[in-house]
Amino acid sequence: RRRIILDTDPGIDDAIAFLYLAAQPDAEIVAVGSVHGNVSAALAADNALRLLDTIGRTDVPVAVGAHRPLAQPLHVSDTVHGRDGLGGVAGPPSPRRPVAESAAEQLVRLARRHPGELSLLALGPLTNVALGFLLEPELPRLLREVVWMGGALDVAGNITPHAEANAWHDPEAADLVLGAGFDLTMIPLDVTLQMWADEPWWASVARGGHPWARFAAEVSAHYVDFYSPHMEELRGGRGCLLHDPLAAAALLDPALVSCVEHAVEVELTGARTRGATLADQRGYPSSDSSGGRPRVRVATEVDATEAMARFHRALSA
Ligand code: BDR
Ligand code: CA
Repeated sequence: RRRIILDTDPGIDDAIAFLYLAAQPDAEIVAVGSVHGNVSAALAADNALRLLDTIGRTDVPVAVGAHRPLAQPLHVSDTVHGRDGLGGVAGPPSPRRPVAESAAEQLVRLARRHPGELSLLALGPLTNVALGFLLEPELPRLLREVVWMGGALDVAGNITPHAEANAWHDPEAADLVLGAGFDLTMIPLDVTLQMWADEPWWASVARGGHPWARFAAEVSAHYVDFYSPHMEELRGGRGCLLHDPLAAAALLDPALVSCVEHAVEVELTGARTRGATLADQRGYPSSDSSGGRPRVRVATEVDATEAMARFHRALSA
């Protein structure tokens, strides 16, 4: 059983991750922090509140997170997820408001109150987690674990040819967090590129008739429109990628992915490669370049059929 702090930038695949978690009896969302990324942190918090309303968890607090990255101007990916972050169809705003503390303060406060008990599921840029670590250097010991959707080890990037979006939106934060000594599993594009939800898959989810299924299919229509011109030819049809739900599934069941351990660094200076996630994969024990940097687990393989079946069940059953 996992008690989860969700750090997120909803975001359509973030929304699907909420729905997935809501359907799992062994997952309890304890609190949510929003972060800039797909949309602004303020809009991400509004969307998190709407999603909690949808899943009937109006008791879960939402804290607004960092409004901008640590060391670069804000850039939001609103073409991917629509101006409102939820494909323009998510319905009316929540009557609830975010809490007064920041997402980083909330993270630190809860981790101190429940040492070693809480899991952090990070589905966006790592700005809040970095700020939390700067507020509380013991944070890596206070959290049970961190699972982060982000990075790309042996595949191309998505937001740039070399960088994955969550790493690229705040490379300094990602580099700090990956080197901070958290028990951390990275769910990179290497595995999330296999989470392809094509139109027949969405149609069959919607046929289930569950209200969440209709919501998920409607919200995802925009995402499918975004992805399809890029990927239709490669994939043989229209569809979209469910990145964030895989991180949620791997948190609850680590056996769904296989991982290698690496000291992962984030490129901070490259003119074309800023935000790339790098590991020394030469395997030369005598000349390892990581200089004592802690290792993290990087998922390199996934049982994709099983993962997609779990998402389907969660949305349609
Ligand atoms: C990640 O970037 C965002 O667009 C998605 O929500 C996901 O977290 C994929 O690169
Ligand atoms: Ca996300």
